[in-house]
Order: sequence, then structure tokens, then C-alpha cells
Amino acid sequence: MAALTPGAAGTLRVHGSIRVPGDKSISHRALILSALAQGSSRIDHILDSADVQSTAAALRAIGARIPAIAPKMWVEGAAGTLTSPREPLDCGNSGTTTRLLAGVVAGARLTATFIGDASLSKRPMRRVAEPLTAMGARIELAPHGGLPMTVEGAKLNGVDHASTVASAQIKSAILLAALIAGVRARVSEPHRSRDRTERMLKARGIDVRQEENAVSIAPAQRLKATNVAVPADPSSAAFFVALAVLADEGELRLTDVCLNDTRTGFLRVLQRMGARIEMLDTREEGGDQVGTIIARPSQLHGIEIEGADVPAMIDELPLFACLATRARGESVVRDAGELRVKESDRIKVIVDNLVTLGAAAEELEDGFRIVGGTGPLRGAISTQADHRIAMSFGILGALPGNEIAIDDPQCVAVSFPGFWTELDRVRQ
Ligand code: S3P
Repeated sequence: MAALTPGAAGTLRVHGSIRVPGDKSISHRALILSALAQGSSRIDHILDSADVQSTAAALRAIGARIPAIAPKMWVEGAAGTLTSPREPLDCGNSGTTTRLLAGVVAGARLTATFIGDASLSKRPMRRVAEPLTAMGARIELAPHGGLPMTVEGAKLNGVDHASTVASAQIKSAILLAALIAGVRARVSEPHRSRDRTERMLKARGIDVRQEENAVSIAPAQRLKATNVAVPADPSSAAFFVALAVLADEGELRLTDVCLNDTRTGFLRVLQRMGARIEMLDTREEGGDQVGTIIARPSQLHGIEIEGADVPAMIDELPLFACLATRARGESVVRDAGELRVKESDRIKVIVDNLVTLGAAAEELEDGFRIVGGTGPLRGAISTQADHRIAMSFGILGALPGNEIAIDDPQCVAVSFPGFWTELDRVRQ
């Protein structure tokens, strides 16, 4: 069903404080590592979304004791007792579920077939199949290199893998396989991707060493059970930061946000564009930086993004594109070919939709070019069932004068089920 999100007539005033839902990357890993630990772990503020439910269901199917997802939950570790599932593991829309659990299945010497929805089935899996095969697993992929994927674990050996893409999912698959198999592994990448797995492993007593763009794990003995308080997701907070920056009046306060520097690339880029954003009350919690973001209406100018900035804001690039249409001058993103293999081909979907709305946008092979303007953006966009496309255009549609119909607003359930309600709550 189409949802129209017309911007209020006149000016946009934002107000209030939001604690967006829990960090998606940390939520997946909290479930996986609690399931693999010895002892019981308490998880607070886990994200209850479709992707995290996919991880919970897949873990249950391999014998982990995962209760219903709840704001406060306990997970009893099932170290050493995991079993091969009877049915294929349906990972829904979630690349993180598929790739991280491929590492778990390989390391735990299980056999499982991974399946998913139409979007996930197209996404590239050779990037995890190759290093896991080099470690000794047997993996069969569909001819296009995607799902269905059957992983047959074995006694694994250590690996030194040089990944050609900066990807936390590849890195995590290898680290998890090595952890469970009790072997050494080292993964290097062209730029540093988000470092959640390594931080969470360290907090559980594992010898993980970080170099500039590489991480290594020593053969592990025992994964300690540890409590986790999941901070708010910076990728979900980003939508409301953008709304406040594009508003005419007021301010928004985003509390309890994970401000780990592998996740704050979007905030740094916005500040370079002239945005009035402050980070307050920053503190160390659970081995990571957490704090409050205050965002206020700002005049933005265009910017170029490439290299190491890209992985630090990879999930925020659709939103950045929408912001760039409202900035003065040209913005260019390069080195972001990975966007083509996310939940949709985000380069094509962003640019096609922006052009439909009347914005000046052009595809590059590994990014896009956008020229900002002030004219109203109006029309109907196609999300391709991609949650971040829906929310990015939702923010643009909330601006006065714009009228944007979104074909599949419910797809936000993948990462932020209450998004539309929050969007209504904070604007007048
Ligand atoms: C994620 C890593 C990123 C990101 C995805 C979640 C994770 O993917 O796009 O939404 O939790 O590890 P890549 O690291 O594969 O780029």
C-alpha cells in the first residue's frame, strides 16, 4: 500500500528526545556470542526487528537456547552442543545473519543450507565461502555465487585472509569460525570496517589483536558469558539527525547512541558539510563509546566522499544522497561499489528515485553525483523492499513542499519497526 508522507505546509519544526532502537550489528552479535558462551548472558535493549528475529530463529534451529526477543532477556550458552538443522536456515533479508552464521556452522562442524528472500538470495556469498573453504569447510553456492548456500563444517585450520573489500561481515565470519574451531586467524581489509565482533570477543576474554586495517584472533579456549546493554543504533539515529539538520526550527536530541568511530562517519561528514551537530555526554559503556547527539537546522554545502570514509558510513549513504539534494553545490561519492550488493543495488535505486522526484542525480560505477537545489521534490518512489531506501526518502518526504509516495513503507521492519511513528512524533 502506498503511504504518502507529505511535508507539513510552511516550516518544519522538530523537537524532543529520541532513543532509537538498539544497534543492529551489536544485537546480532549479542545473540550469537551469548549462544556460543559458557554460562548465561543478560541482554538489555536488544533490537526487535525482522533481521534480528532471523538470527534468533536460525540460532534456535541449530540448537541454541534463545528465548523470545524481549527488552531484557537471558540467553543460556550452548557451547559445544549445537546441532545441524533439519530444515534450511531461512535468513530472511539479513546478510549479517547469513554470513556470520556461515562462520558458526563451519567452525562448529555442522551442515546447514542457508536460504533467504529474493534480495538476500542475489547477494554475493563467495566472499565468505572462499576464506571458509580455505580454512577447510566445504561450501556449495548457487551458480550466481549466492543463496542457496550449503556449508559443511570440518576440522578447520588457521587462515591469513586478505579481503579485497572492507566488510565487517566477512571479517566476522572468519573470526567466529576460528573462535569455535580453536584456531588462529588474521583478516586484513583495504579500510577498517566496523569493529563490533572484535570488541565483543575481547570483552569475553578472547585474545584479539587489532592493527590499523587488520585483526587477528589467537586459538581460543573459553568464551566467557557477559552481559550486554545494546546502545541505540547510529544508523537509525542518522535519519533523525538528518531531519533536524534539514528542518527550519528546533532541535533533536538522540540519546544513548553508539558513537564508536567505525560507525560515526556520517556525523563527521555532516559536520564537514556545515551541519550543527554536537556530541555530548560521551562515555565508555560495555567496551564502546556511547553518547548523546544534538542536531539543529543547518545550511549544508556539497562534499566529496571516498576511501576510508565509505565503510564508516556505508549504511548511511542512501540518506546522505537525499541530504545532498538539499545542500548547496555538488556532492560526489566514490569507492562505494559495495552499495550495489546491499539489500538493493543502492546506487541505482537512489539515483533512479531521485531523478523521478526531479533532483539532479547521476550514477557512477562506484558511487553517485548529486547537485543540490531548493525546488520541491515530488513523485512516487520504489524502495525495492530496501528498509534504508524507504527511511531515507521518508525524511526527504517530511520536508515542507515535498510530496513523496513510498510503495513499501512496511519494509522498515527490517531494522526500525517504529520509524514512521517516531517521525510523526518529532515534527510539528
Ligand atoms: C554489518 C556490516 C555492514 C553493514 C550491514 C551490517 C554487520 O556490511 O552494511 O548493514 O553487522 O557486520 P559489510 O560489512 O558487509 O559492508
